Amino acid sequence: MAVEKERRSFLGMALGGFTAVGGIVTLGAMKRTWDPLPSVKSAGFTTVDLSAAEENVLNVEKWRGKPIFILKKSADMEKHDRDVIVGDARFHVSIGLCTHLGCIPAYFPKNKNFICACHGGMYDVSGAATKAPPVKPLEIPPFKVDGMTLVLGEEGEEFKKMKAAGLTV
Ligand code: FES
Repeated sequence: MAVEKERRSFLGMALGGFTAVGGIVTLGAMKRTWDPLPSVKSAGFTTVDLSAAEENVLNVEKWRGKPIFILKKSADMEKHDRDVIVGDARFHVSIGLCTHLGCIPAYFPKNKNFICACHGGMYDVSGAATKAPPVKPLEIPPFKVDGMTLVLGEEGEEFKKMKAAGLTV
């Protein structure tokens, strides 16, 4: 009888041990599954070299699946607090989605404005809405200036200042 009890006790402990080890292994596998891959983490950033950017030529980059407008301003374009200074040049940087219903506005270099074909909304070269239906300016994505490079997806000091001033939305 005592031998039977010891045997059951041993089997209970062994089973408990196996269950605990199995649980830990399963949790480890689940964590590895849910953790983003290193490439996905780095995919959250888009790096753009602006050293060769030309004035009044719209550069459209992609960041997290969204079009990003980057426009080097010419001297005749009005300065704005939303301008991003890179080197000695001013740039307009925004998410290229209309703040009305999300269409992608087109840039017209001759008129120096953005026009949204969906409902006729317009924006100036600083991204300010100049014709309804959109009432909000084009949104500025998180960015960091690193020399002549723009890092999209990282909140640098310039972006934080703009955000604090309510200029990014
Ligand atoms: S979506 Fe651009 S004006 Fe309506």
